[in-house]
Amino acid sequence: MISVPVATPSRSYEVLIGGGLLTRAGECLGRFLENRRAFVVTVAPVRRLWAKVLKKSLAASGIETELLEMPNGERSKRLATLEKLAEQLVKLGADRGITLIALGGGVVGDVTGFLASIYMRGVDVIQVPTTVLAQVDAAIGGKTGVNLVSGKNLLGTFHQPRAVLVDPAILETLSTREYFAGLYESLKCGVIGDPGLFRLFEDKRREILDRDPVMLEKVIADSVRLKASVVSADEREGGLRQVLNFGHTIGHALEAETRYAELLHGEAVAWGMIAATHIALSTGKLDSVTAGRITNAVLGFGKLPRMKLQTANIVKRLRSDKKTKQGVVHFILPREIGKVEITSDVPEAIVRSAVDEIRKLARN
Ligand SMILES: NC(=O)c1ccc[n+]([C@@H]2O[C@H](COP(=O)([O-])OP(=O)(O)OC[C@H]3O[C@@H](n4cnc5c(N)ncnc54)[C@H](O)[C@@H]3O)[C@@H](O)[C@H]2O)c1
Ligand SMILES: [Zn+2]
Repeated sequence: MISVPVATPSRSYEVLIGGGLLTRAGECLGRFLENRRAFVVTVAPVRRLWAKVLKKSLAASGIETELLEMPNGERSKRLATLEKLAEQLVKLGADRGITLIALGGGVVGDVTGFLASIYMRGVDVIQVPTTVLAQVDAAIGGKTGVNLVSGKNLLGTFHQPRAVLVDPAILETLSTREYFAGLYESLKCGVIGDPGLFRLFEDKRREILDRDPVMLEKVIADSVRLKASVVSADEREGGLRQVLNFGHTIGHALEAETRYAELLHGEAVAWGMIAATHIALSTGKLDSVTAGRITNAVLGFGKLPRMKLQTANIVKRLRSDKKTKQGVVHFILPREIGKVEITSDVPEAIVRSAVDEIRKLARN
């Protein structure tokens, strides 16, 4: 088992990583759950596949759990879901001493984390992420949130978990599309801060895409280390944490422009990484060989979903993004493999040419 520490001003905890770890959840998490009631929050597809394994392994350590189910999918990431879950908790007699366990992807993690931060003014949460995206990103760092009709993740809190249990074997049951989409975030970690991880995507691509257990555990653990180190240095997005947004500036605009219907988040980030790399090359911040390596690594996963784009619309969205401060668009640009720079002064003509570039790639 690999243990990666996360140390933030509000709490320090461990991310425990290992193939098959879910079957040892009792022994790993027992110390956090002693004499506490535990409620597992999950969605139907994950409950059917994995809830029993978790429940059984906790029970073997004398920890009984109750199961709460929320509707699956991004559309259930809203305040109404929290309210329903909270009502159920009250009915079950849950008090301030309970622990919530989030068993699912980023949606379950965000909802459960948020609920834990406000239920009776705050209870403990343990994250057990079941998608690549959640294992390498969403479950670590304590950001929680739900969507408003006006935009994504506009309500939320910071609430660090007591522990995070990451079992890459859980990813076996993920669809190929979801699996690949999450891996783009892992590749992102390589580009922003871990050349060794990036090289794995070049040298061991086949093994990674085929979910070779040894390689998968390594990729997940390296990505977790990167995210954990960034979060430990900057819990509340003071600045450094922004580097995690490599590929996300244009990625978010693409997601919104395609109405969150055509691209998974990781796929939008993949296109966004290609665009950011193009911008870095055009502004002289990156050499062409390295730009080629990044682009090839992204495209090496296979075809990304096609989409029809209007460059002008994307540029407009970039300017009006709700999280854009005073109309200034920030880009995270690679300088070399493992090193990025945050900049806000990219000429609009260069942004346009980067969007044109992915528009062309996305058409054929
Ligand atoms: N809090 C953060 O820091 C943070 C960071 C990144 C993303 N997010 C959020 O994460 C969400 C996306 O997360 P996601 O991509 O995991 O989506 P998701 O939670 O909707 O999961 C994707 C799909 O996979 C299914 N699934 C989950 N685990 C499975 C498994 N092991 N086997 C088979 N099917 C499985 C789910 O039921 C769902 O249908 C977004 O809402 C995003 O805003 C949060
Ligand atoms: Zn992301």
